[in-house]
Amino acid sequence: MTERPKSFRSVSGIKPTGTPHLGNYLGMIQPALKLQQTQESFYFIADYHALTTLHSPPLLQQYTYELVATFVALGMDYENHVFFRQSDIPEVTELTWYLSCVTSKGLLERGHAYKDAKNKSLDITHGVFSYPVLMAADILLYDATHVPVGKDQKQHLEITRDIAIRFNHLYGETFVIPEAFIEEKVATIPGVDGQKMSKSYDNTLPLFTTEKKLRKLIMKIVTDSKSVEESKNPESCHVFQLYSLFATKEQSEEMAHKYRAGGYGYGEAKQALFELINHQLGESRETYFSLIEKPTTLEEILQLGKTKAKQTASAVIDRVRSQVGL
Ligand code: ADP
Ligand code: TRP
Repeated sequence: MTERPKSFRSVSGIKPTGTPHLGNYLGMIQPALKLQQTQESFYFIADYHALTTLHSPPLLQQYTYELVATFVALGMDYENHVFFRQSDIPEVTELTWYLSCVTSKGLLERGHAYKDAKNKSLDITHGVFSYPVLMAADILLYDATHVPVGKDQKQHLEITRDIAIRFNHLYGETFVIPEAFIEEKVATIPGVDGQKMSKSYDNTLPLFTTEKKLRKLIMKIVTDSKSVEESKNPESCHVFQLYSLFATKEQSEEMAHKYRAGGYGYGEAKQALFELINHQLGESRETYFSLIEKPTTLEEILQLGKTKAKQTASAVIDRVRSQVGL
């Protein structure tokens, strides 16, 4: 049996199903990139997962490169860590099969995404039903100890752990049991309409867009209809919530004070939010716009990741084949 890692390793993926937004950034990308400082990191573009909802080859390609440029612009250290495309390592589909054979149908029937689709009477594909098994394979194939994700992925991590525990019980110690790594303070980022920010709700603030568009979208964030003079509650305001995720403690306290004191309008708060985000993401935005023009460079980055990911995946898949008796 090949040796298992003794130190921590973070593994996570993101689907190329749309242009990345601030919810993706604060909920997943930023915490994942921070973990690079303390853990070996394996991050990938989950294009196999994207196929459950996206059936356009050119868009799949476009969104994949957008994500690569986004991660690199924000500091993905692809030279010292592993940054790759899920489908470049097809061993993950082989592992999905082994895991499928120890996963009960009932476990998958309890999945939130499946239940939601069922309640809405949507036409459910096998891909949607077995989505969590592919996700478990992503995580277990790289011996992850930690999985940085947004809060909505918590259940997927519980399913992954259940599958790994069941497999280890049946075949003997094979997989590392991973833990979700969730930034509780970030939790769920609201979109401009106040619901969870999501590509599916068309309410996102894109991570990298022109200043003009960013300002326009921020001005659209819904608030209550209190007048400038009235005292306001910062805690229940989405503008303040977003501001405090980018601001220092002092800046947040100052804005909260202005809200409560009255004489401070939502327009001014939105302008402050725009300036803060624009300032913090400005430099990365330049890098992003320059990278997105260079698909060859982006592809080279993915190929470097493929070579490194392949090594780990081959070792783990050999271990699993031998455990199941193949
Ligand atoms: P979307 O809902 O826009 O399709 P994804 O499901 O592709 O986003 O999510 C990618 C990652 O970003 C996941 O780890 C998810 O938890 C995180 N994420 C997405 N939206 C939010 C949000 N509004 N708040 C916090 N995290 C989020
Ligand atoms: N399901 C995740 C999402 O919707 C994406 C994903 C696929 C993932 N495979 C993963 C996340 C493995 C963490 C680990 O955001």
